[in-house]
Amino acid sequence: MLKTHKCGELRTHHVGQQVTLAGWVHRRRDHGGLIFIDLRDRWGIVQVVCDAAISEEAHRVADRVRSEYVIQVVGDVRARPEGLVNPALATGEIEVVAHKVTILNPSRTPPFYISEDQPVDEALRLRYRYLDLRRPRMQRNLILRDKIISYIRDYLHERDFVEIETPILIKSTPEGARDYIVPSRVHPGRFYALPQSPQQLKQLLMVAGFERYFQIARCFRDEDLRADRQPEFTQLDLEMSFVDRDDILDLIEGLFIGLVEAMEPETGKRLKFKPFPRLTYEEAMARYGTDKPDLRFGMEMVDLTDLLAQSEFRVFSATAADGGQIKGIRVPGCGNYTRRELDELTAFAQKQGAKGLVWLIRTGDGMRSPVAKFLTPGEIEGVVERMSLEPGDLGLVVADRPDMVAQVLGQLRLEMGQRLGLMDPDELAFVWIVDFPLYEWDEDEERWTAMHHPFTSALDEDWKYLQPGPDYDPGKAKAKAYDIVCNGWEVGGGSIRIHRRDQQALMFDVLGITPEEAQAQFGHMLEAFEYGAPPHGGIAPGIDRLVAILAGEHNIREVIAFPKTAQATDLMTGAPSPVSQEQLDELHICLKLEE
Ligand code: AMO
Ligand code: AMP
Repeated sequence: MLKTHKCGELRTHHVGQQVTLAGWVHRRRDHGGLIFIDLRDRWGIVQVVCDAAISEEAHRVADRVRSEYVIQVVGDVRARPEGLVNPALATGEIEVVAHKVTILNPSRTPPFYISEDQPVDEALRLRYRYLDLRRPRMQRNLILRDKIISYIRDYLHERDFVEIETPILIKSTPEGARDYIVPSRVHPGRFYALPQSPQQLKQLLMVAGFERYFQIARCFRDEDLRADRQPEFTQLDLEMSFVDRDDILDLIEGLFIGLVEAMEPETGKRLKFKPFPRLTYEEAMARYGTDKPDLRFGMEMVDLTDLLAQSEFRVFSATAADGGQIKGIRVPGCGNYTRRELDELTAFAQKQGAKGLVWLIRTGDGMRSPVAKFLTPGEIEGVVERMSLEPGDLGLVVADRPDMVAQVLGQLRLEMGQRLGLMDPDELAFVWIVDFPLYEWDEDEERWTAMHHPFTSALDEDWKYLQPGPDYDPGKAKAKAYDIVCNGWEVGGGSIRIHRRDQQALMFDVLGITPEEAQAQFGHMLEAFEYGAPPHGGIAPGIDRLVAILAGEHNIREVIAFPKTAQATDLMTGAPSPVSQEQLDELHICLKLEE
């Protein structure tokens, strides 16, 4: 090694030792005859003193070094003089007096400070990602990521899981997003797809008899990107045989509890609930307006439809008559909002799609609201009681189609939770969402689509809704599907699968997939189900989201070494980029570009 010690490990017990260090110049301060260099390596920073009176040569070299030069230092560890101890630095009680400084490699002036956690334009960070990754925050995040993955591997290996790699060049899987496809050179006009997840392969591994599989698996989805979405991302992909829903939930709950507690010394993050609460999809939608509720705070939606159905306020009565809902949330202590602030909230609600927003302020002796004059004393009393409005509270009420009420109040709830500081960043509120609908109705295409994916089993008692006959009603069928949600993020999703060919055929039937299409797309799965497929199920937590939550980051880019921009580009390498005509010819590809 070019070093005997790590910069960050030196302490007072090293005083008197000669050490050789190597790393980057974090900062350099020139005091004439004395030059101070903060030398950095992965383990920390130590102050190197280059004193011309001690080593003229070391001082001469130190005179030439600049930020981010890579240098090697031979020197003696000594205690810092009284009063010059730096308590902010782990090595702050000592310093290294240099005898010899060697420049291993100079550096151009970096485009931003490595030494300071100042905000830097993200495009610049991504363009020079290798420099960005030198910064403490990114080092911390990636090291935490490694610890998390290592914890997960240990946990699963202790429970007899086998990690098995599955191919990246596969046949398209219907996971709901668009595929990335790869042209085949040897088979002109044919394409591989990059896996959106190893879904079919993990199920086939169950048919193969592995019983407990996992993989830290890379997945690829060509979809619109957001803070919690990257075109390629990593899942903890997992599948088990001879299990039912609760076996999977218990396994993952045990993993997450253990993981969060093991990481707490570094992350400072604590669990809000232990065990994790379970909400049905219906309850989550009714109480929080979303299937990924942030349970760090309450502010639940309260249904007022029956109370206000006969109201003289036309919007309420018409909405109720139309099969809509009237719901509200109680915002504690915001009864002092000004007219302007209330107008802003209304505009916020309208941006979410609401037609309007009714506000109610519980005063000392009654209720102030633009609709108060339309409400009977009985209605007012009912609303106050049901919403538990205390004097000084603000009530926000939306009347609309149930999905719109959910959307608008769900967002208002988050907005008000944020404003009131109810989202403790150090608290992790994990919750299971269960009993998802099996299908979703696609308005545009006028057909049923699988809410999770087409290999998900219906609840045992709900298969009848898929069977042609009097009970046929796919919209009623619930799935053995579940999500794990934390602080408003969907961290993972999974299901118990269909393992019988007849049930899989029924599923495809409702989706409008003909037997011929099913054969062409999933023939291998259907065939495998005829060779003794065990009952099985699994889940796939998103590693990037999990790490981001534990690292306290709001964008998963911050926990991925080389992420892509929201436009799915790589600013460092310039991908995607054109390829040569030769490559295109080899792949039998002819480009149709608009001029
Ligand atoms: P699903 O599609 O719900 O399920 O994905 C599981 C988890 O993967 C993460 N995730 C993403 N993370 C970052 N960027 C993305 N673009 C992205 N898309 C998904 C989320 C999500 O909860 N095969 C099934 C799992 C199963 O049934 O076992 C699947 O992929 O955290
Ligand atoms: P620091 O501990 O890096 O915050 O040091 C504060 C300032 O004290 C430095 O910028 C130096 O100018 C000075 N200093 C630190 N260590 C010494 C030392 N051993 N002898 C003289 N001055 C020092």
